[in-house]
Order: sequence, then structure tokens, then C-alpha cells
Amino acid sequence: MNRHLPSSSYVRPLLCIDEMSVSFDTSLGRVKAAQNICLELHERETLALVGETGCGKSVIASAIMQLLPSNASVKGRAIFSGIDF
Ligand SMILES: Nc1ncnc2c1ncn2[C@@H]1O[C@H](COP(=O)(O)OP(=O)(O)OP(=O)(O)O)[C@@H](O)[C@H]1O
Ligand SMILES: [Mg+2]
Repeated sequence: MNRHLPSSSYVRPLLCIDEMSVSFDTSLGRVKAAQNICLELHERETLALVGETGCGKSVIASAIMQLLPSNASVKGRAIFSGIDF
């Protein structure tokens, strides 16, 4: 089933991350830490972020929880339980 197409059995995700990008302004310039990340998490689901070291797993998790330091810039949307953060 394509979750992006509403239907009679469509279930809205608990968490939807749409085109999220995170960068950091540092003394050495701008670091593009994660780019154009999209994911969906439904109730009672577990989602693992997997990838090589430095690919942005922790940065994306921190952005979702709004725990990034002040030199971070976040683009994109995070929708949790229907609320757009
Ligand atoms: N506060 C920060 N300032 C500048 N760059 C940062 C900062 N935090 C993370 N980065 C950079 O963002 C990129 C992604 O880092 P992140 O910690 O999300 O990687 P990761 O996928 O969690 O790696 P690992 O598997 O080693 O935990 C890296 O290039 C990292 O150096
Ligand atoms: Mg990490």
C-alpha cells in the first residue's frame, strides 16, 4: 500500500519528517550535516536509522527532538501527531 495516497485504509503516521536538512555554522565554514531526509513512523513501529559514521543519524534524531545547538540551522518539516513543528 502506498501510504502517501489517502484511501479508506489510510493511517496517518505518528511522525512525518519531510525533506529535513541540518547544517552547522562553524569557524571553518558551514557543515552540511544531513540533507533532504524523509521518513515516516507509525504508532507501534520501531524505526532504525542506519548508515556510515558521520552520515547524520544523530543530527536528525536531535533535530526531531529539537535538541540541536544554537549554531544549527534546520530546514524542512517535522509533523508529530498532526502538529507541524
Ligand atoms: N555541533 C556540530 N557542529 C558542527 N558539525 C557537527 C556538529 N554535530 C555534528 N556535526 C557534523 O554533522 C555530521 C553528522 O554527524 P552525526 O553525529 O549526526 O553522525 P552519525 O551518523 O550520528 O555518526 P556516528 O555513527 O559516528 O554516530 C558530521 O559530519 C559531524 O561532524
Ligand atoms: Mg551518532
